[in-house]
Amino acid sequence: VPHSSESAQVAERVERRWAMIVVAIVLLLVAMVVFTGLHWAMMPPSRVETIDPLKLNVSGEFIESNLGSAAESDGSVTVRLIAQQYSFTPQCLLVPANTPITFRATSADVVHGFLVTNTNINSMIEPGYVSTFHTTFDKPGEHLMPCHEYCGVGHEGMWAHVKVID
Ligand code: CUA
Repeated sequence: VPHSSESAQVAERVERRWAMIVVAIVLLLVAMVVFTGLHWAMMPPSRVETIDPLKLNVSGEFIESNLGSAAESDGSVTVRLIAQQYSFTPQCLLVPANTPITFRATSADVVHGFLVTNTNINSMIEPGYVSTFHTTFDKPGEHLMPCHEYCGVGHEGMWAHVKVID
């Protein structure tokens, strides 16, 4: 009988060791979750410019009279636009070629897509945020600007045009 009690002790030791290993793995996973959470929380947010999507037409940068292209004192052009179900305002963006262009866009309702064909402009337009892109068109021409983020039943018909003039 001493023999069987000895093997029971061995079995208990092995069991306890495995239980400790399991606890150690769980603690390691929790530590990783906490570390990555803190690490990312300390990173600066990529989109710091926020805006109230319900007040776009009442005051601020995106009131109707301020939309479209505007010449800046440094020779560049800023284009402001709003996306909403299911159109862009303005519908046609007029910009000069060989000029630094800054697009500033926001949404009045849901997430929309912002893509200018034959350029590297490809982003999302989100309610509550101002999306900003810089580009220069090197020649005159017309570009289509489809919404490429599904935004509802009218998504397929949500288009605008970018006309680059000399
Ligand atoms: Cu707006 Cu799809």
